Amino acid sequence: MIDERSEVAYESSPMPDVPTPTSSIEETTSPSAWRDEDICLTVSDLCLHYGDNEALTNISMQVARQRVTALIGPSGCGKSTLLRCFNRMNDLIDDVRITGKIELNGMEIHDTAVDIAQLRRRVGMVFQRPNPFPKSIYENVAYGLRLQGSMPKSEVDDRVEWALKNSALWEEVSGRLNESALDMSGGQQQRLVIARAIAIQPDVLLLDEPASALDPISTLKIEELVHQLKQDYTILIVTHNMQQAARVSDYTGFLYLGKLVEYDTTNIIFTNPTEKQTEDYITGRYG
Ligand SMILES: Nc1ncnc2c1ncn2[C@@H]1O[C@H](COP(=O)(O)OP(=O)(O)OP(=O)(O)O)[C@@H](O)[C@H]1O
Ligand SMILES: [Mg+2]
Repeated sequence: MIDERSEVAYESSPMPDVPTPTSSIEETTSPSAWRDEDICLTVSDLCLHYGDNEALTNISMQVARQRVTALIGPSGCGKSTLLRCFNRMNDLIDDVRITGKIELNGMEIHDTAVDIAQLRRRVGMVFQRPNPFPKSIYENVAYGLRLQGSMPKSEVDDRVEWALKNSALWEEVSGRLNESALDMSGGQQQRLVIARAIAIQPDVLLLDEPASALDPISTLKIEELVHQLKQDYTILIVTHNMQQAARVSDYTGFLYLGKLVEYDTTNIIFTNPTEKQTEDYITGRYG
């Protein structure tokens, strides 16, 4: 089993300053028309085996910078597995074999020179079940900052406030930052773990069904949040909810049995897909 808490197991070494260009692409620009500087992640011929089981087969795709990319597909098709490849969380699972390449801003993430702790700092992940630490709301958000080394308290305070504001939680919790995070509602906990993830200002946010356990109002808050966060982050979101994928994402990839069947603008995938399998899935014929 993966220990989902290891998402914040960063080392204290500082990150080099990597300038993040701003994407210039329009939301309707087809992936084939992207320029190099619009691309955050490039996946080439990615295959992943759990033991003898092939879970991902020859995945090749690019992920646009500061856009929301949804991964959809039936249960067991490899969505979470693919998501975990982007910050090498699958390395924590025994008997996993990965071939192919993933480049983050041009850096091959499997390169032996890559510091995995730093990679996970740049590529934050939020899981389906919110996993706050049994600490205060404040300490949950400050956790990753503290691991980065000493920071004046006033700066930690500012970053905690910034992250809570940017995760649409500040108004609900500003008066009770020292209370336990475990006493928050599920929807609040999910926004808290998003605040924890963005507090250290990653480049990429991986969200694995972040709203699947939430009520409609909390779900809407998460969706609004995703929409707002894409101004600063490249976001990959896994969802089983077709309406949600259509609402929040700019690009959508449809996975089936470990293969990327189709990848295009969300508009095309939901209105005029090329592949019959995609159409069958989005119209609810299977999955
Ligand atoms: N830790 C693991 N060890 C072995 N096999 C795994 C592991 N995690 C996933 N698999 C297998 O890999 C395949 C893809 O699983 P994955 O969890 O990526 O699917 P998914 O699309 O996220 O499904 P769901 O929508 O149900 O979350 C499945 O056949 C699954 O059984
Ligand atoms: Mg999954």
